Amino acid sequence: MPTLNWSDDMALDVPLMDDDHKDIIALLAAAEAANNAALIPAWQRLVESMAKHFAMEDQWMVDTGFASDNCHSAQHKIVLDIVKDGAIKGALGDLGMVRQMTRELAGWLPMHVDAMDSVLVTHLRNVGYDPVSRTVNKPTAMPMEQVQGCGSDHRCATKGVESTTTAAETTA
Ligand SMILES: [Fe+2]
Ligand SMILES: [Fe+2]
Repeated sequence: MPTLNWSDDMALDVPLMDDDHKDIIALLAAAEAANNAALIPAWQRLVESMAKHFAMEDQWMVDTGFASDNCHSAQHKIVLDIVKDGAIKGALGDLGMVRQMTRELAGWLPMHVDAMDSVLVTHLRNVGYDPVSRTVNKPTAMPMEQVQGCGSDHRCATKGVESTTTAAETTA
């Protein structure tokens, strides 16, 4: 039984985003269920999916007036660096750390969707953004200045996953 299952409560009604979140949850479940021989390839598929998804959201933010280093994108980068580091350490034999990361990601992802992705969706709607064509249909609603923050409480955004990094660094 996976730690995290897709729930319609997580849907933000942006199909490109929801479909990616479903894929990430499925890949996370596959990594969680993988035996030792299959764990690192499964983890790598998850990392690639997360990288693609984060890049998509980052592009939407830049398209709609966010600074490229806004806090939501910064959180993506932090988490992506952590899971990439997990792939490297896992390939060197630390499978326990990767398994710990699967559990922590299962806790982190719903928090991120709730705290950050949902705020992004509200912003995209406000400016009339079409994620498929990447068109802003209400340019007058665009922010006057580049957005640095993410308009939400993001304190929990890397909670759990960060503790893995700390543990890894202290044991390295
Ligand atoms: Fe997302
Ligand atoms: Fe995000």
